[in-house]
Amino acid sequence: MTQFYRAKVAGIGAYLPERVVTNDELAARIDTSNEWIIERTGIHRRHVAADDEATSDLALNAAVAALDSAGMDAQDVDLIVLATTTPDSTFPATATKVQAALGITHGAAFDVQAVCAGFVYALSVANNQIVLGQAKNALVIGAETFTRLLDWDDRGTCVLFGDGAGAVVLAGEPLDGDANQRGVLSTHLHSDGRHYNLLYVDGGPSTTQDTGHVRMLGPEVFKHAVNKLSHVVHEALEANGMEANDIAWFVPHQANKRIIDGTAKKLGVPMDKVILTVQDHANTSAASIPLALEAGVADGRIKEGELILIEAIGGGLSWGAGVIRW
Ligand code: ACO
Repeated sequence: MTQFYRAKVAGIGAYLPERVVTNDELAARIDTSNEWIIERTGIHRRHVAADDEATSDLALNAAVAALDSAGMDAQDVDLIVLATTTPDSTFPATATKVQAALGITHGAAFDVQAVCAGFVYALSVANNQIVLGQAKNALVIGAETFTRLLDWDDRGTCVLFGDGAGAVVLAGEPLDGDANQRGVLSTHLHSDGRHYNLLYVDGGPSTTQDTGHVRMLGPEVFKHAVNKLSHVVHEALEANGMEANDIAWFVPHQANKRIIDGTAKKLGVPMDKVILTVQDHANTSAASIPLALEAGVADGRIKEGELILIEAIGGGLSWGAGVIRW
């Protein structure tokens, strides 16, 4: 594809609901324990949205913070791509609510659904729009009130997830011929719908007419995750003529510390180059990568010009990776 522009990450923002639920709180309600959850998942706590907080509220807070960090006026944004599995309503797109709340009436706003891989998909779509000159400045948001999909009697799933939102501002800049020009270098997307029944929600508008709950065959998902993530990371590195040790920071989807450890081991990546937030956020689905990126930027680990690799897998199965020069 002929590229005319590069999509630079101009800003990043995050939002976590105020309420924190510890493993012990869950253990008081269901047959589980703090020790079991930490040992099998690395999760210590998660944030849970207030009853009157919707996905669009979380997304808006993250978007405002991202625009602020970019020093950009909302009126300069002409594309909003919002990755979510938990939209405010079946339609319209939650992105249009965020657009209206930001006072934007031009350009396009839409949602992308790829569950836990959603942020990588949204970044890919927005990047392609910018690269071709069809959008100038994009807000890419991952936002979830995932706990609303949980069956709180199913201990195999309800301990794993949390709520939150993260956003990046992508700004199109003409390609300047500098090999180190900042921005998204490549994205790589995959799906294999044969694995639909490993991780899904048992409801929906065209079937049960209700929202349904998350159902998962955990050990099966685990095996696919480590294999498919290491493959797609290799693909992303190869596409850029890079090796794992060229990457400054690996920012994986935060599903389970054991999946992250297993994938890093398979790739030969030391854990001190991996940004981890799963202990504090649990799995926030499409929000987990931008939340982890924001954590890495906020504490000074991720610096301008460094190479970042993001990767994620989720229901579908759908998975992907991306390389960014930050
Ligand atoms: N507390 C205590 N015991 C539990 C709990 C719990 N919360 N959940 C399950 N168990 C029990 C099971 O009932 C089972 O008991 P049994 O042996 O008496 O039947 C035992 O623990 C082992 O169950 P497994 O499911 O085999 O446990 P496993 O070690 O595989 O861990 C887990 C389960 C954490 C879900 C793991 O399979 C996993 O992480 N899978 C990946 C799934 C994932 O992360 N999904 C997130 C979405 S997809 C994504 O984002 C990649």
